[in-house]
Amino acid sequence: MKILIAYATTEGQTRKICRFCADALIDNGHSVELLNLGDDEDGLDLSRFDAAILAASLHLGAYQVAIENFAENHSTTLENIPTMFLSVSLAVASGEADDLNELEEIAQRFFENTGWHPARVEHVAGAFRFTQYDFFRSLAMRWVAAKQGQKVDPNKDREYTDWDALHRAVLDFAQSV
Ligand SMILES: Cc1cc2nc3c(=O)[nH]c(=O)nc-3n(C[C@H](O)[C@H](O)[C@H](O)COP(=O)(O)O)c2cc1C
Repeated sequence: MKILIAYATTEGQTRKICRFCADALIDNGHSVELLNLGDDEDGLDLSRFDAAILAASLHLGAYQVAIENFAENHSTTLENIPTMFLSVSLAVASGEADDLNELEEIAQRFFENTGWHPARVEHVAGAFRFTQYDFFRSLAMRWVAAKQGQKVDPNKDREYTDWDALHRAVLDFAQSV
């Protein structure tokens, strides 16, 4: 199959996640186009694809504007092919019911606002990227980590992504198509 993976990222973890998904699909005989949204969408013909995976990360309770625009602009085509959404966040790593409910609400709002309703949604744990944060962002994220009971070293990145679960989810999606 020809599969589009379109993503928006702020600090890079969602790109890493999407590259991993692309490799998994290619290893299973699929052909994949990776698209960094907002970068190079001109002339994109979505009808070339058998399925699409869209991915974005949460910052202050919202996904990137680039994915909102893309999902809204292409909602009609996306509604007609099998699609999966990867929602990258840190809240999912807490495993707390309140956090998971809030993530679900944010995702549902995103689908209602854009008119795109993916068949499958996966909440994927992201990463603290302390090596990329500025002073204030680093301070804020240390507070977030403390609130979640996570011990972090502010000089080191910390990744929570469960690569095995992601591998299973992406291949399961491709197989279901
Ligand atoms: C300024 C800032 C705000 C964030 N806000 C949220 C949030 O509201 N909810 C959440 O679960 N994670 C939040 N995160 C965590 C990011 O979703 C996580 O770091 C993710 O891996 C970022 O993905 P990216 O590198 O692809 O941008 C925030 C991170 C930063 C730096």
